[in-house]
Amino acid sequence: MSTFRLDKYLADANIGTRTEVKNYIKKGIVTINGTIAKKPDIKINPDTDEIFFQGEQIQLAEFEYYLLNKPSGYVSATKDNTAPTVLSLINSNRKDLFPVGRLDKDTEGLLLITNDGALSHRLLSPKRHVDKTYYAELEGIVTIDDITAFEKGLAIGDEDLKVTMPAKLTILDTDATQNISSVQVTIQEGKFHQVKRMFQFVEKKVTYLKRISFGPITLPNNLALGKYRELTSQEIEMLQKF
Ligand code: URA
Repeated sequence: MSTFRLDKYLADANIGTRTEVKNYIKKGIVTINGTIAKKPDIKINPDTDEIFFQGEQIQLAEFEYYLLNKPSGYVSATKDNTAPTVLSLINSNRKDLFPVGRLDKDTEGLLLITNDGALSHRLLSPKRHVDKTYYAELEGIVTIDDITAFEKGLAIGDEDLKVTMPAKLTILDTDATQNISSVQVTIQEGKFHQVKRMFQFVEKKVTYLKRISFGPITLPNNLALGKYRELTSQEIEMLQKF
């Protein structure tokens, strides 16, 4: 790990805001290798220096991994001028977090947030074919023919004219009187608006979309919309195997 300013290091470790940690340093409750730290801008090396705050050693994980249940209305980006971003839902002082891929602003569900660029790059690589499963509600009656069409692949209009990779469509319910269906669909790619465009191709309209799994990670039933939790070490290990 490289060197950090002491106040940044403590803020990144979620000890407090930059202003709060500066005050802690002034109060003399932060030590570096047993000596009281006097200045917030002193450079420390987390690999070799021992930093204590109120008698407890502070160790900053290099990477953070969160599983967010994204609500509608939030943009999957690090910055946006028109709407709040998914990062505004994560209570961390780290400035280098980003979402792994994108969900549309009106899509809900599982979104991974991390600062591990290499892992994100691997998971999003078109070569890896990480399964992504969605629950969708639609206008229109989904049929067996649609299941076959999704399995064969659809020319949804990308420039390269390639059809989509085989997608597994499962019909959960149809209601002919209201002309609506609910389905589960698993895709292996992440083309722009892919699920909505696939259904549009078979003349249905997605009215609600929620991602319920991403590779080996499943959205927990007890994680409310807008809430998040850290990935477990087992989940991180599973993702790293991709
Ligand atoms: N497909 C879509 O159309 N939208 C999403 O947000 C994700 C997949």
